[in-house]
Amino acid sequence: MPNIPILDGEAVLTAVPPAAAIDRVRQSFERFAAGEWVMPAKVYLDSPPNGDFRAMPARGGGYATLKWVTSFPGNSARGLPVVMGALLLSDAESGELRAIMDCAAITSLRTGAAAALSAQVLAASGARSVGIIGCGVNGAWSARCLAAAGYGPGVCADARPEAAEALAAELEWTTGSREEAAAQDVVVTVTPGNDTVIFESDLREGHHVAALGADAAGKAEVELAALRHCGLFCDEWAQASAGGELSAAITRGTVTRQHVTELGDVMSGRAPGRGSDEEITLFDSTGLATQDLGIAAAVYEAWREGQVDAELVTI
Ligand SMILES: NC(=O)c1ccc[n+]([C@@H]2O[C@H](COP(=O)([O-])OP(=O)(O)OC[C@H]3O[C@@H](n4cnc5c(N)ncnc54)[C@H](O)[C@@H]3O)[C@@H](O)[C@H]2O)c1
Repeated sequence: MPNIPILDGEAVLTAVPPAAAIDRVRQSFERFAAGEWVMPAKVYLDSPPNGDFRAMPARGGGYATLKWVTSFPGNSARGLPVVMGALLLSDAESGELRAIMDCAAITSLRTGAAAALSAQVLAASGARSVGIIGCGVNGAWSARCLAAAGYGPGVCADARPEAAEALAAELEWTTGSREEAAAQDVVVTVTPGNDTVIFESDLREGHHVAALGADAAGKAEVELAALRHCGLFCDEWAQASAGGELSAAITRGTVTRQHVTELGDVMSGRAPGRGSDEEITLFDSTGLATQDLGIAAAVYEAWREGQVDAELVTI
């Protein structure tokens, strides 16, 4: 009897609505900070000139997962997603394969959820308005998760006006210039990381910036000079220092380990978060395999409980 479910993107998104994704990603940060969930470093495999593949394993909560995923920036021009691939979920006790899932949907949910979670943990107490710079796949999910967490309304900005318009129409937000989006309380950047989209001159008291687009070496969205005004946070130091928004400053020595706090350490009370409502906070998200694990476990459990359907195969 075939017994391995293959869960497509629609099943993943049905199984885990944005609010549930935020809960699962919150849990993954807590368990990772406590040392209960583990992950080796993400492996990058260059595929020039198209981009790179990433292999992202993690274990926790009785499961082990492996995500095999692309970041191919030029794919949009070919009508293909930038981020695509599959995630394998296994039983961590027996080693048996339990499920295969679309990983683009998992990536979008956990990426958007991490942006929203960073705002819940780090943004100033009265922060509500949102600016999204880069309204593609992961920018849109960041906006949906922030809306689910009670943030908004927002300003959507994108080099492709149609992307900003579609997202603004969906959430009943507005479109605007990069500058207008950058002036909101919570600003999320989700561009390919080729151009500066947050300048030193954009920063103002109480800002929270979640920089998501720079998730590999050589990418950046925030002007280097801006960083010295910010309390710096990341999802995980090893990843962020090797290939995140902060990596260029770390290579130059202007930012060191002691300047950067992992979000999970703030959540567990081991480190302080925002110091005052005036402070500017910047969260460097590179995307963790443990976040994928948190979402994948929720998808598998929803399928097991009959909440979503899947084709079954035997491997
Ligand atoms: N941190 C993470 O966890 C994480 C997760 C997934 C993707 N990413 C990264 O996020 C980036 C975007 O991924 P995606 O899947 O959303 O891609 P996408 O192609 O769907 O969206 C990118 C959007 O940025 C817009 N854009 C490009 N340059 C811009 C500029 N200068 N100003 C404003 N908008 C601009 C594009 O028009 C497009 O709509 C990639 O670099 C990807 O590797 C990071």
